[in-house]
Amino acid sequence: MENTAINKYISKLFFCIGTASMMLALALALGGCGSSGGTSGTASGSTPGVSIGTVAKSVSSPSGQQITVNNVIFTTAQSSITVNGDPAAAAVVKPGMQATITGSVDGMNGSAVTVEVEGELEGMVEQINSGAGSMVVLGQTVLVNAQTVFEGTSGLSLLSVGQMVEVHGFPDATGVIEATRVEVKMSSRPNYVTGPISNLDTVAKTFTIRTISVDYSGARLPLQTLSNGQTVKVKGAYTNGVLTATSIRAHHVHLDHGHAELEGLVTDYDAAAGTFTLHGQPVQLTSTTSYSHGAASEIANGVKVEVKGDVIDGVFVARKIDVEGDHGLPVHPPITPVTPPTPVTLPGRAAYDANCAGCHILGNYDISGFAPNLSGKGSLVSDKIVVGHKGISLSSQLLTALAAFVNAN
Ligand code: HEC
Repeated sequence: MENTAINKYISKLFFCIGTASMMLALALALGGCGSSGGTSGTASGSTPGVSIGTVAKSVSSPSGQQITVNNVIFTTAQSSITVNGDPAAAAVVKPGMQATITGSVDGMNGSAVTVEVEGELEGMVEQINSGAGSMVVLGQTVLVNAQTVFEGTSGLSLLSVGQMVEVHGFPDATGVIEATRVEVKMSSRPNYVTGPISNLDTVAKTFTIRTISVDYSGARLPLQTLSNGQTVKVKGAYTNGVLTATSIRAHHVHLDHGHAELEGLVTDYDAAAGTFTLHGQPVQLTSTTSYSHGAASEIANGVKVEVKGDVIDGVFVARKIDVEGDHGLPVHPPITPVTPPTPVTLPGRAAYDANCAGCHILGNYDISGFAPNLSGKGSLVSDKIVVGHKGISLSSQLLTALAAFVNAN
């Protein structure tokens, strides 16, 4: 969208280097890669590319962590990995997270060079509607479905208003997010939201992300100047519908490689032009674009798709589209911001503080003690206590909460 001539030139250059290195003679014979028609994705062998989508699996193997996104299993031994902008170990990448992977793909296998994991938002649960499968966090409606991965709780009905959650998923323009992962977090953490800037007012130092008003007068800013349409991650404190930013980071998807596989919700669909936008990237449909699990006629704003294709002259040309379905949303009434509730002290945290803290260490949460560090040892907790440990007895519900708490710290 915001491709300047230079950006286009750079994209084209990367595309040429990326896909044509092994076929240089061919590309030259065709008079430069821009005119080669972009059939590189079907060439055999490894193709450089980018994949954006939900982490379906993350398993450790003798050759390192393997992460599956868009049906491609990526090895990560050589990767640089970030989670919400911070360097992270591959094992931290979990199912349901949204990841952008660059690297190379050969059929079902890939080798990741970079893995960037970015959550959609983190904030306190303001409302829960278990019947409708939704909750409100930072004034945004978060929808869960059978595929949503939960961590720290087993589902929506066991969450409480006031708990802190991090949500990964697919947002639409109205602030409704289809959650692929919901994880219970410590209540003391800052709130954040990821999304495109709109209504930027550089005098009042405010902008909007979907339906959230941001006040950035006291924030640490990125090097780039802020502009409408730019995707940013804003961290801060949320009260009464306003996120008072402490820091803002630009989050940019670089589609400069040849092959691309993107999963997301269709926006800006233009049937006449045969174009739509996915993760801010313009997608071009052609007469040879093929469709599975659905038809071309089902493409509409808000429909979830997985698009495979090639970046040609900065434009992502769709070769194959898997129509994963309308996200089935009822029309939502506008959300009135509510006063954030008082934070809930997680039951697992309370149980730890009262019964275990005196002896044990727990990650960074509790660094003093003589007994083993319980971080990540949730699976041992129940058995240990049930057979009798230091005369402690806890209900099975508290043991489950305790296990989740020690795993999260
Ligand atoms: C009075 C001190 C004390 C208290 C209180 C205590 N523990 Fe322990 N715990 C120990 C010691 C010492 C060990 C190591 C020896 C053993 O395994 O019994 C241990 C071991 C464990 C282990 C095994 C760790 C491993 O790496 O194998 C688990 C799990 C555990 N405790 C959980 C708990 C939980 C959960 C609580 C609170 C509900 C708790 N403990 C309370 C002293 C304590």
